Amino acid sequence: MASTRATQAIQIPESGELPPGPKGLPLFGVALSLRRDVLGVLTRIAREYGDIAYVPLLMQSRILVSSPEWIEDLIVRQPQKFDKGPGLKDASRRLLGEGLLTSDGELWRRQRRLAQPAFHRQRIGEYAQVMVEQATAHTCNWRDGETRDMAEEMMALTLIIAVKTLFGIEFTDEAKRVGPAVTLLMRYQLGRLRSPIKIPMHWPTPSNLRANRAYEFLDSLVYGIIEERRRRRDAGEPEGHDVLSLLMNAMDEDGSRMTPKQLRDEVMTLFIAGHETTAVTLGWLWHLLAQNPRVEQRLAEELHSVLAGRAPTPEDLPRLPYLDAVIKEVLRLYPAAYVLQRTSLEPFALAAYQFPVNTTVIMSQWIVHRDPRLFDAPDEFQPERWLDGLESRLHPYAYFPFGGGPRRCIGQIFALMEAALVAATLAQKFRFAEREGMKVVPEPLVTLRAKGGVPMTVRIRS
Ligand code: HEM
Repeated sequence: MASTRATQAIQIPESGELPPGPKGLPLFGVALSLRRDVLGVLTRIAREYGDIAYVPLLMQSRILVSSPEWIEDLIVRQPQKFDKGPGLKDASRRLLGEGLLTSDGELWRRQRRLAQPAFHRQRIGEYAQVMVEQATAHTCNWRDGETRDMAEEMMALTLIIAVKTLFGIEFTDEAKRVGPAVTLLMRYQLGRLRSPIKIPMHWPTPSNLRANRAYEFLDSLVYGIIEERRRRRDAGEPEGHDVLSLLMNAMDEDGSRMTPKQLRDEVMTLFIAGHETTAVTLGWLWHLLAQNPRVEQRLAEELHSVLAGRAPTPEDLPRLPYLDAVIKEVLRLYPAAYVLQRTSLEPFALAAYQFPVNTTVIMSQWIVHRDPRLFDAPDEFQPERWLDGLESRLHPYAYFPFGGGPRRCIGQIFALMEAALVAATLAQKFRFAEREGMKVVPEPLVTLRAKGGVPMTVRIRS
C-alpha cells in the first residue's frame, strides 16, 4: 500500500557527508529560483556540482542524480528500496488516486499484472487502424492558411484514440475540453507542490473553485466511461479485449473484483497518461519540423517514397528509419516526462555516499539527454545522429524517455506507434509553419508542455 509518511529534510548521513551542491538562501535553499526556472536551475546544479548533487529545498531537500550509471543503479538494481514518495502522491491523489502511475507495493504489482496484456505488441498492432483513421478524420476539414494550435489539436486527437483503443468506446464531443482542464490542474497542483504555504483545497478561493470544477468535470467523464461500458456488458454486447474489459473482469484469487474506486483510479490514470504525453511529444515534433525545414523536407521525401500517399500501417514503420530518428530526437530534446522521482524506504548507498530512509532522489531526462559528455551538439535537433546505430552504443540510461526498471512506461510501444502513425498521416498531407520570430518555450508542468501552446499555419501539400 502507499506510504503516507511525511516528506522530511534529508538528514546528514552517518559518514557526515552530503554530496556537493549550492547553499542557496538560508532556510529556503534554492526553492525560490527553482519555482521560476526548474529546468535551468537543476541543469546548472548538475553541470556545476556533478553527477550526484545536493539540492537544498526548504523542508524537502533532494539528491539530484545525473549520470546514466547511477540512474541505472537506482531504478534497475535497487528499485525495491524506493517508492514514488509522498510528494507525488499528495499532488496527484485527488486526480489519479492509486492508479498504476502513483501506487506502490503489492497494489501496484497486481494492477500492473492485470493491465500488461492489453499493452503487448500484438495487441497494440490492432489499435493501429484506429490511430490512422482518427488522425485522418480529425484533420479532414483543415484548410490551407488557417491557424491551429497544434498542442491543443494533438491533445484532442490522442485523447480520442486513447479512449477508443483502451476503453473501447466512442468519444469526441468533450475531447477539446479535457486538455484545458488537465492543464489547469497541472498548474494548480504544481503551484501547491512548489509553494511553501498550502491553503486547504476545500477553502473557497478562486483557484480552489476553478480546480474543483475541473476535477468534477474529469471525474464525471471517467465515471461516464465506466458506466457506458457496464451498460454494454449488461446488454449482452460482446466483450472487447481492451484494457477496461480486462480490469472490469479481473478477479483476485479470492474471487473479489476491483472496487469501483480502484477501477476509477486506473481508468483516470490511463485516461491522462495514455494521451497527454504523446500529445505533448507530437506538439514538439511539429514545432521542431517547422524550425528545421531541411529535416522536414527529408521526412516528407521518405514518406513519399515509402507510402506514396497511402495510409501508413505498422508494417511500414521499419521502412521509415528517418521518421523513427525524428521521433527519437524529439523525445531526446523535449522528453514529455522530464524527471523521475523516488523516495527511499530504507537506507541506500550510491557511489561513496550512504543515504538514510526518506531521501528523495530526482533524475532528469532533460539534464541527461542534453549532457555534452553523452551527445555531440546536445542542444541541436539532429535526427541524423540516430541513423547509424547510436542507440546501441549509448549507455541504456543515457537516453530514457520512458524511464526504466520495473516502473518503465507500460505504454511505450503504444506511444511510439501512435506518434509514428499520426506523424506519417499528417506529414503526408500538411506542412505546418510558425509565425516568424515566434519563440516556443517549454513549460515544465507534470509533463513538458509548450507555454502558450504551438499555434501554427496549416499548409496543404500540393
Ligand atoms: C511519448 C509518450 C510517453 C512518455 C514519454 C511516457 C513516459 C513515461 C515514464 C518516464 C514513465 C515512468 C515514470 C516513473 O518511473 O516514475 C511512465 C510510466 C507510465 N506510463 Fe508512460 N509515457 C508515454 C506514453 C504513455 C501511454 C500512451 C500510456 C498508456 C497508454 C502510458 C501509461 C503509463 C503508465 C500507466 C505508467 C506507470 C507504469 C507503472 O508504474 O507501472 N504512458 N511513462
